Amino acid sequence: MTDALRQHLENNNSIANLEILTPDQVSDAVRLFYRDGFVMVRDVLTPEQVSFLRAGCEREATEILSIGRQQYPSMMNRYSWGGASITNSLLHLEEWVMLADLPTLTPIITAIWDSSDYHLRRCAGEFCIPGAGYQPLHADINDGFAQYKDPRGLVELRDLPCPMVVCNFLAQDFTRVNGPTRVIPGTHHSKATIPSLEDETEEMRLSTLSPAPAGTVMIRDPRTWHGGTPHLSDEMRAIPNAIFLAPWIYERQLPSMPREMFDLLSEHGQRLCEFVVSDAPIRAGYQLRMHKKSL
Ligand SMILES: [Fe+2]
Repeated sequence: MTDALRQHLENNNSIANLEILTPDQVSDAVRLFYRDGFVMVRDVLTPEQVSFLRAGCEREATEILSIGRQQYPSMMNRYSWGGASITNSLLHLEEWVMLADLPTLTPIITAIWDSSDYHLRRCAGEFCIPGAGYQPLHADINDGFAQYKDPRGLVELRDLPCPMVVCNFLAQDFTRVNGPTRVIPGTHHSKATIPSLEDETEEMRLSTLSPAPAGTVMIRDPRTWHGGTPHLSDEMRAIPNAIFLAPWIYERQLPSMPREMFDLLSEHGQRLCEFVVSDAPIRAGYQLRMHKKSL
């Protein structure tokens, strides 16, 4: 079965006509982001930054795996650094602080909102280990996000302009068989019921953002339907992230960035981290929890 699945994925596990931009294509990135609910941009990290980040991901994955394996069936072999971290974030670690204000990415995030007054929500991300299967399609935010509510019942979260941007960094290549993320284009404003694994079409299952090289970023509107796919390679696959809040969103955060990490940032980086910085000591660590929803 696994051999047949591997062959099927090797042959077919790619979205049609995947465009991967370069960091200088800022206006094209904004256009594709608003059209599709995501955009891929390569070379946002240098090879040295990829190596630094990958080593950090391996260290922090080992730490989580030493605590225990996920027992929750839909999360089997999938782990969320944000979900496991006591602070919901890894902003006490330099590898993740590096992701907050990259010169290759900041112009694109700024152009998406036509403003540099956005905020960092967290830097964390996910990893999966060999053996992970399909993760159901889901959105990362739903009604109630940031306490959004229209008392008239007229304007739902999915009617709004993009409230949050998730940037997932490829800490290794995405191949067709190492659990690349599948994304369904154009679903960021959809109010249709997200199909279950059983109801999903084969085209959706194969709609992965692969192949793509390490150092690429997936920039996602978190309302866009997405999910993990089978991980049949033999190495951990990590997609650490940086999550940004629109200039018009306020959401209270746990203190997660020590002042000494804040001091490493540019003036812009420091301003966007004002929700997460703390002068008090940060108590960092992991605690595996049951998740009510897919992450
Ligand atoms: Fe997700």
